[in-house]
Amino acid sequence: MRKSFVAGNWKMNTDVHSSVKLAQGVVSGCKDVVGKVDVAVCPPFVYLQQVGAALQSSHIALGSQDVYFEQKGAFTGEISSAMLKDVGCAYAICGHSERRHVIGETDELINKKVHAAILGGLLPILCVGELIEERKANKTAEVVTRQMKKGLAGLTPEKMSAVTIAYEPVWAIGTGLTATPQQAQEVHAMIRKLLAEMYDRKIAGEIRIQYGGSAKPDNAGELMQEEDVDGLLVGGASLKADDFVAIVKASV
Ligand code: 13P
Repeated sequence: MRKSFVAGNWKMNTDVHSSVKLAQGVVSGCKDVVGKVDVAVCPPFVYLQQVGAALQSSHIALGSQDVYFEQKGAFTGEISSAMLKDVGCAYAICGHSERRHVIGETDELINKKVHAAILGGLLPILCVGELIEERKANKTAEVVTRQMKKGLAGLTPEKMSAVTIAYEPVWAIGTGLTATPQQAQEVHAMIRKLLAEMYDRKIAGEIRIQYGGSAKPDNAGELMQEEDVDGLLVGGASLKADDFVAIVKASV
């Protein structure tokens, strides 16, 4: 039985004060579901430490929105897995669609980040998902398969157990256009079948696959009803503690 996993990706939002307030709101709102669902928040790098302090002695985990693949050195502006571990991160998002399509990250770079995250003791959340043109051209399976195979290249079965997959159709991100539960389930089932081919059925059955893309309190429950939807990666709605907490509660 896979435990639900809900993560909030705050993206480039909040400030010193509001990041702490938001974290405190999540901690207090999630008190009665402790242990029933895994929860993480991923603030901007600069607020990781103070958000981590606000999460102290709660069951809410800290995650980063990205990680660089080198451990240290002359990589101006980058952040290593060792640094993220040092400030208390448990998770690292890798290959978010905004990093793929706005910043220009490739599958090869993302694969290095997934490896570096695991090597540094972090749990990567590998994001995959198709553009609207790709969906319209019936290329969803092809695109997601490529992103999965390249993103996970070289990962042993043992390392694979550290990974969460997030299916985030790009057309649903920040648009208010959520995938229907059936659309999400179709791709999630495809991803799980692919994992069984790449690894085995046991591993495929254990890996959690989150859905992301305009997840909200009023659609979280129906998305989570689907057999292969094991959690949610929440953007906009994770910036309001009440909404995020409602999503977490709908995911138990
Ligand atoms: P929205 O929930 O704002 O659509 O963002 C989803 C997302 O990109 C989470 O990583």
